[in-house]
Amino acid sequence: MRIDEKRPYACRINRRIETRILRGLRLVAAERTQKEIIVVDDGSTDGTREKLAAWHGRDGVRVIFHDRNLGKGRAVRTAMDAAEGDVLIIQDADLEYDPNEYPRLIKPIQDSWSTGKPIEWIKIHNLPNYVYFNHSAHVNHGVGCVECHGRIDRMDVVFQASPLSMGWCLDCHRAPESRLRPRDVRITDMEWKHPSDPQESAALGAKLRQEYQLHDVTYMTSCSTCHR
Ligand code: HEC
Ligand code: HEC
Ligand code: HEC
Repeated sequence: MRIDEKRPYACRINRRIETRILRGLRLVAAERTQKEIIVVDDGSTDGTREKLAAWHGRDGVRVIFHDRNLGKGRAVRTAMDAAEGDVLIIQDADLEYDPNEYPRLIKPIQDSWSTGKPIEWIKIHNLPNYVYFNHSAHVNHGVGCVECHGRIDRMDVVFQASPLSMGWCLDCHRAPESRLRPRDVRITDMEWKHPSDPQESAALGAKLRQEYQLHDVTYMTSCSTCHR
């Protein structure tokens, strides 16, 4: 393939994606649940911005533009901050949910409001009940959610990202240094990483271990710490 032949190809793909977004938006707008539609354009450069701008203010659509590509997690947060309704449906442009299913999707929430009964929580993570586990012991000592739950912000449906086996717990309990973050980094921050330089990372880990006054390895690996 000659280099200059690549361009029309890329353009064709972009046009396909673009029309998919606009088609999706049309279907969402046509669905009859009373709603506002917030569209976040995550820094697109393929002409979608202009087309979306034309939708702003029409059919309950509000379009918000990121100046540059910030990723799905941030796009979702932008929309959540802007939302004014009571229930939020996060809809990818590829229409993973059929807009005609919206009434079914929100029915359990409406039922819960009218009956006062909580929605049943589907538990994915389940330790056997002979294991003692405590979130605050972790999150108060600089172990971020992402260490155990993975990139939950990128999951369409939550799944268990770690084995939660005894060996997995012990691996970290033996040497948690590289998994600790400073107090000024949010515990829910999914992007934060230890310094890539191994020496810097080790120094930070040692400093944090001191700061958080962690128990020694003997205590952290003794049976009674997790089996009480
Ligand atoms: C050290 C590992 C670890 C960290 C860090 C951690 N979790 Fe968990 N989380 C677990 C384990 C293990 C379970 C299952 C507990 C059980 O079955 O008793 C769990 C369960 C959960 C559940 C229930 C999940 C379900 O399937 O029902 C939620 C929600 C949750 N964690 C949120 C968080 C959030 C939010 C953070 C950060 C603020 C966090 N966790 C940090 C290990 C962790
Ligand atoms: C990514 C690292 C990491 C993983 C994975 C992890 N832990 Fe921990 N855990 C820690 C750190 C750090 C502490 C805080 C230790 C301290 O306070 O001295 C801790 C504390 C605890 C404590 C409290 C100890 C005490 O008496 O203060 C328990 C209980 C515990 N972990 C159980 C578990 C179990 C069970 C699992 C696996 C399902 C697990 N942890 C997985 C890092 C981890
Ligand atoms: C850091 C936490 C932790 C410590 C320390 C720990 N365990 Fe466990 N243990 C677990 C977890 C989590 C499981 C459940 C694993 C699973 O479901 O796969 C488990 C499971 C077990 C089981 C059941 C295994 C099976 O196959 O059903 C036994 C027995 C056990 N532990 C014994 C011990 C003994 C003995 C010690 C001390 C030498 C110990 N554990 C220390 C976390 C721990």
